Amino acid sequence: MKTIRTAAVIGSGVMGAGIAAHLANSGLNVLLLDIVPERLTPDDEASGKSLADRSVRNRLAGDALTRLSHASPAAFFDDSCAGRIKPGNVEDDFAALSGVDWIIEAITEKLDVKKQLLTRIEAVWSPGTVVSSNTSGISIEAMAEAIAGPMKAFFLGAHFFNPPRYMQLVELIPGSSTNEAVVAAMKTFLERRLGKGVVVAKDTPNFIANRIGTYGLLATMNIMEAGGYTVGEIDAVTGPALGRPKSATFRTLDLVGLDTFIHVANNVAERTDDAAEKLAFAVPDRLADMVRRGWLGEKSGQGFYKKVKEGGASRI
Ligand code: NAI
Repeated sequence: MKTIRTAAVIGSGVMGAGIAAHLANSGLNVLLLDIVPERLTPDDEASGKSLADRSVRNRLAGDALTRLSHASPAAFFDDSCAGRIKPGNVEDDFAALSGVDWIIEAITEKLDVKKQLLTRIEAVWSPGTVVSSNTSGISIEAMAEAIAGPMKAFFLGAHFFNPPRYMQLVELIPGSSTNEAVVAAMKTFLERRLGKGVVVAKDTPNFIANRIGTYGLLATMNIMEAGGYTVGEIDAVTGPALGRPKSATFRTLDLVGLDTFIHVANNVAERTDDAAEKLAFAVPDRLADMVRRGWLGEKSGQGFYKKVKEGGASRI
């Protein structure tokens, strides 16, 4: 396995951007890639840009960097850390993955999309590069089916929690082909270099933390609906009053992203044969309706809470 000095993060959403920031804070140079936008924004059009322009093609990763720089509390230790992240896109910059020491997949929580990406990564993979997935609970073994050759031994789940700079836990999930030395080296790297607390988890649906956490969030939502309580009432009871200042139920769901949360709940509901568990992990209609309307949480400005502008600052 290569000594890790550089990394690439693919997917610059809620987690990819936060992981890139944490790596940059720890002194690594990071390539942050996302897809090329399908259309121009009104601002692009007004300034005469086209879909061939690099600034447009890198916009998703570039916007993520801007968001991080304005995040409160700040995602970066200081401004110099942001300079270690280079934004790019998966069409123009994919070949650059062959030059990094660790590739982190942090794209949409869908098995087929992740498998397609892994097949593409294998085509440019250089021996000794670790490839990890940030999946919340999709089977590592099922993802590894997309890999044909020796990269399989270097592939594992490395599941960061949100927000990556502040949450200490990382679950490491080896597949049946993952080299044990790679798991041990990643555990040491995550603990000593990135300051994380690592738990090695089995490749079961949603691993450990999300199996428990998703169950609790869904149960809370069902209790709210059945009891006729409001979002504010439940957050008042499950947040600061319980000594959890930032982790009230619906604020957490908005932070996670409601679309991502539905995929994570489905990871269990679709893979269990236990009828009671299927029911416990079923997505409530209200949540599905919100996602259909585009209410995805903080990332879209509206979830259980709505982002409002106050004196120039945004608040959910
Ligand atoms: P997100 O929806 O915020 O971001 C996903 C990003 O991936 C988007 O920017 C999208 O444009 C990009 N993308 C999609 N397909 C792509 C492709 N083929 N190539 C390059 N980029 C692509 O999702 P989020 O929340 O960041 O989740 C990413 C992964 O991390 C998922 O597997 C999720 O389950 C996991 N996760 C999410 C947590 C959360 O709190 N949101 C916590 C821990 C893990």
